[in-house]
Amino acid sequence: MPATTTPEPAVSSSFEEIMGLERSYLLQNYARYPLALHRGKGCYVYDLEGNRYLDLISGIGVNSLGYAHPRITKVISQQARLLLHTSNLYYHEYQGRLAERLAKASGLNRSFFCNSGTEAMEGALKMIRAHGNSVSPHKTEIISLENSFHGRTLGALSITGQAKYRKDFEPLLPGARFVPRNDVAALEAAVNENTAGIALEFIQGEGGILPVSEGFARKARELADKFNALLVFDEIQCGVGRPGAYFAYQLLDPVLLPDIVIVAKPMACGIPLGAIIANEKAAATIKSGMHGSTYGGGPLACRVALEFFDILDELLPSINSVGGYFRMRLTEMMRDFSFIKEVRGQGLMIGVELTFPCKSLVLDGIREGLLFNCTHDTVLRFLPPYILTEQDVDRALTALTRIFKKAKPA
Ligand SMILES: Cc1ncc(COP(=O)(O)O)c(C=O)c1O
Repeated sequence: MPATTTPEPAVSSSFEEIMGLERSYLLQNYARYPLALHRGKGCYVYDLEGNRYLDLISGIGVNSLGYAHPRITKVISQQARLLLHTSNLYYHEYQGRLAERLAKASGLNRSFFCNSGTEAMEGALKMIRAHGNSVSPHKTEIISLENSFHGRTLGALSITGQAKYRKDFEPLLPGARFVPRNDVAALEAAVNENTAGIALEFIQGEGGILPVSEGFARKARELADKFNALLVFDEIQCGVGRPGAYFAYQLLDPVLLPDIVIVAKPMACGIPLGAIIANEKAAATIKSGMHGSTYGGGPLACRVALEFFDILDELLPSINSVGGYFRMRLTEMMRDFSFIKEVRGQGLMIGVELTFPCKSLVLDGIREGLLFNCTHDTVLRFLPPYILTEQDVDRALTALTRIFKKAKPA
């Protein structure tokens, strides 16, 4: 069992009570693990009994600065005393400053703020649709990748390249076309005058930590230009520092700019915030009154994100070095565990593909005090906080070795 420490402020419910309420009153859409979390500090979270877990999934890539980061806690409490919400009827001092920050970081000039990844994708789809409509009534097709994941709302689902997510909700948006990742010939065959947009999940996260190749990305840019389509990169999971750069597309040399990049997860350290960041051409598709959000870009989320960016600048080198160390140590484990097929990733977005389904290993991880998840059936996914250290990696690898030793490949 994980190390026990003194529990922090009183826990008012038992695990059974929490689970009972979930069973009785919540939609039964989630397959949750048998763990209720109470608090966190740094890269660690604690359950109701005070057991400690090293968190290598960080709320699916959201808790980018871990838990109770002193600078984030400070700005949240300061802002809570001043102003939490304004709506977009009025100005406040942080939204424009954050947009300026995003423009400098991304090379794209104009931002729109929302509250989640899927909402950012919905807005990008509206830009694609408006762009197509402005050219021709036939320009309605959107190309995306097989095996991609873009969110749960109907538009985002329509271009998500995994039938299991789409099948219960059809008919979806017409005009979605899927091509296999990195198949340049298939991409060339799919794009034509009727293509309004090409949306690429730059490193597939849910699909198993699979990157778009440089050649494929450059071809997408070339075809988007040739056929006057908008090129969108979905960096909701792989972006904003996680790959060891602000954005994964910046890892290409020379940098390849999309027309739109969409981001969300890590940007406000657990406060919901998503963004569409667009160049002038894409931004011009949305005119007054065409899009909006009541909560999007509120003072709390924007102020936290500004603080996050200040801290991120100093963290980028260690995201690269600790991520590289983590991948190297995992690769070394391939010598002892022949069921590890591949270790891949970028920065602190890491996937370990096994030869067998890995869901039960996640439960073993919880028993060992280590949180990660299993995606695409056979890929262990690690999206740790950006403050992870090599010592944390060593600790994780010790637990992972114990887990792998007990594993029974089918
Ligand atoms: C690449 C990608 N796009 C979109 C989404 C949807 O984001 P959200 O769950 O915040 O709506 C996700 C979520 O995991 C994602 O990984």
